[in-house]
Amino acid sequence: MSDLPYIVGNWKMNGLRGMLSEARSIDRASARYPKVQVALTPPATLIHRLHEAMQSIGIGGQDCHAEESGAYTGDLSAQMLKDAGADFVIVGHSERRAVHNETDAMVRGKAEGALAGGLSVIVCVGETEAERDAGKAEEIVAGQVEGSVPRGKGAELRLSVAYEPVWAIGTGRVASVDDVAAMHRNIRAKLVSIYGEAGSGVRILYGGSVKPDNAAELMAADEVGGALVGGASLSAESFMGIVDAASQKVAE
Ligand code: PGA
Repeated sequence: MSDLPYIVGNWKMNGLRGMLSEARSIDRASARYPKVQVALTPPATLIHRLHEAMQSIGIGGQDCHAEESGAYTGDLSAQMLKDAGADFVIVGHSERRAVHNETDAMVRGKAEGALAGGLSVIVCVGETEAERDAGKAEEIVAGQVEGSVPRGKGAELRLSVAYEPVWAIGTGRVASVDDVAAMHRNIRAKLVSIYGEAGSGVRILYGGSVKPDNAAELMAADEVGGALVGGASLSAESFMGIVDAASQKVAE
């Protein structure tokens, strides 16, 4: 797994063809940052178009089914995403866990399906506000990592983990840098307990209201290997502000 900072824009359920020009701007600007790995996850309907139009950034899906094919109306397999031009997929986003009742076991199944389908995978974890207030954040997140990450030979080589506190997503509220660093160390310890020393190479991204003006301090925090960005990835200007902040980390 690369150790370049990894900045992933998650467009969620946003984006019609008109958004291709924004993606093109992001792609062109990203070519000037060879020390930052940049990717977008558009809605599945745009994966193929982005794949054809992009030159310097990665393209991913926002979810996949655990199985390769079958009678699962409305679902998409990892093979289909790859066929459309994706090279990775996000699984276990808190919106999927909350709205589609996805459990850790389901997320792990999807992550393993993604790897079997030839994709890399970003597994999302994160506590709710009530869990943090109850002093249980580290325990909850460690449990999600244990239950959600893919197993199998070399699984950790194509894995990133995104720590996204649910209360920070789309709210403008960001976890403190100290809390982020502490949680990333907690996740690192869990990854090493699962994969052995190889777990120290898995990138851990932070997500939740990352913006150009807070990205530099978040990216500088201990064990933060990049960012998963929602709202701020919908405009090239704000997204590239975050990519630029990540490039400063490399320059340090
Ligand atoms: P946000 O979303 O940056 O809009 O908070 C992050 C995410 O959900 O991945």
